Amino acid sequence: MLSVKENLIVDFSPSLLEKFGEIVARYPEGRQKSALLPILHEVQAAYGWLSVDAMDKVAHYLTIQPIEVYEVATFYSMYFLQPQGKYMLEVCRTGPCCLVGAEKIMEHLEHELGVKEGEVTADGLFSWRGVECLAACGFGPVLQIGPEYTFYEKLTPHSVDELIGKLRTEAQAKD
Ligand code: FES
Repeated sequence: MLSVKENLIVDFSPSLLEKFGEIVARYPEGRQKSALLPILHEVQAAYGWLSVDAMDKVAHYLTIQPIEVYEVATFYSMYFLQPQGKYMLEVCRTGPCCLVGAEKIMEHLEHELGVKEGEVTADGLFSWRGVECLAACGFGPVLQIGPEYTFYEKLTPHSVDELIGKLRTEAQAKD
C-alpha cells in the first residue's frame, strides 16, 4: 500500500531527462515501460527517495498510468517511498541471521542512532531498517548500505559502532 507521509515536488533536470532517454533507447520501440525500474533508480539517486510527484512525472514521461509506477515502487524494497538518511543501514532480519544476533544489532542501531526503524537521524545521516535475506547467510549478522550495496558481515555492537563512526567521518570529509 502506498503510504504518503510527505510529498516532494520535482522538476527533472535536463541531464536526468537525458539519462531517461538513454535508458528508454535500450528497449524496442513502444516498450518504454520496460525502462521503468532503471528510471526509478535514477530518480531515487537524484532525490534520495521516490515521492508521489516524482512517480507521477515518471508515469507521464513513460506514457503509462501512475498506478503502474506505484505498483512497482511499492513491490521492490530497494525503492524508498519516504525520505531516508544519507546512509540507509539495512540489516538482514531473516532466521539464520536472527539466530546469530541480528535482532540485537537492530536494537543496538536504534539505541545508538536514537531513531526507530525507517526514521532519519536529526543530522540527516542515518536510517536503518530490517530486510529479508541478503544472501550472506553464513556470515551473519549482516547489513548492507546502498546505493553500492556494500556488505558488512559478522557484526557485533562494537563493529557497528565503528561503522557508524567511519561513516560520520566520511560524511564530514565530504562536506
Ligand atoms: Fe541473513 Fe541470509 S539469513 S543473509
